Amino acid sequence: MIRVYEKRFDGRKFDELRPVKMKVDVVPSADGSAVVEIGNTKVIASVFGPKPLHPKHLQNPEKGILRCYYDMMSFSVPERKRPGPTRRSIEISMVMKNALASTLLLEEFPKAVVDVFVEVYEANAGTRCASITAASLALADAGVPMRDLVSAVAVGKVGGMIVLDLTKEEEDHPEGATDIPIAMVGRSGKITALQLDGAITKEELKKALELGKKGCSILYEMQRKALKAKYGVR
Ligand code: CDP
Repeated sequence: MIRVYEKRFDGRKFDELRPVKMKVDVVPSADGSAVVEIGNTKVIASVFGPKPLHPKHLQNPEKGILRCYYDMMSFSVPERKRPGPTRRSIEISMVMKNALASTLLLEEFPKAVVDVFVEVYEANAGTRCASITAASLALADAGVPMRDLVSAVAVGKVGGMIVLDLTKEEEDHPEGATDIPIAMVGRSGKITALQLDGAITKEELKKALELGKKGCSILYEMQRKALKAKYGVR
């Protein structure tokens, strides 16, 4: 393996997350909410529901429905992003839903819907992961019945090195970068989302997944801490 990335641009260790901040209950009008900052990637998630789904013909009498909406604010990126949905935001919304749905006890609220809105107000890579982490936290804050929290982080290969939590600068490394966002259920360690953008060998992927799981575990503990800070429970 050729190593051309000896020291990370921001001085972090290869297996180190960016500085993380999490807080729940930040949107008064929402049933649950959370802010998650990981380095210069910052998102806010708001949850509304469970509430009756309209129009009624969309209701599922067996279980509730989860809807996720990911949005990047115009000022969140250096080059102004045109407001409104894009193919990318539709894809990320779907990834979020798939990453979270299996942890919710949807059968406990038939005919109902839970809406999750995530706004990215500063983007520096890893926004889908920060969105999943924030959304799961906001769902817990809303009291939506769930088995466990989900946390997410990107791992990858930058200049021949396996790294945790890529920045935008790393994603754009001149030697090329491989980006692997992963989402994990806290206690079980079950992976609920995994994407791969770039090239990687099987051995490197194994190493990257281990590192990603380690990152997710750290984020999971921080999620629990953020909930404890509000509810003061175990
Ligand atoms: O954000 P994430 O890594 O999950 O998704 P991405 O599609 O791989 O985007 C990587 C990064 O590109 C974002 O986090 C932004 O920093 C940047 N980006 C941008 O500058 N302008 C856009 N319209 C979309 C993304």
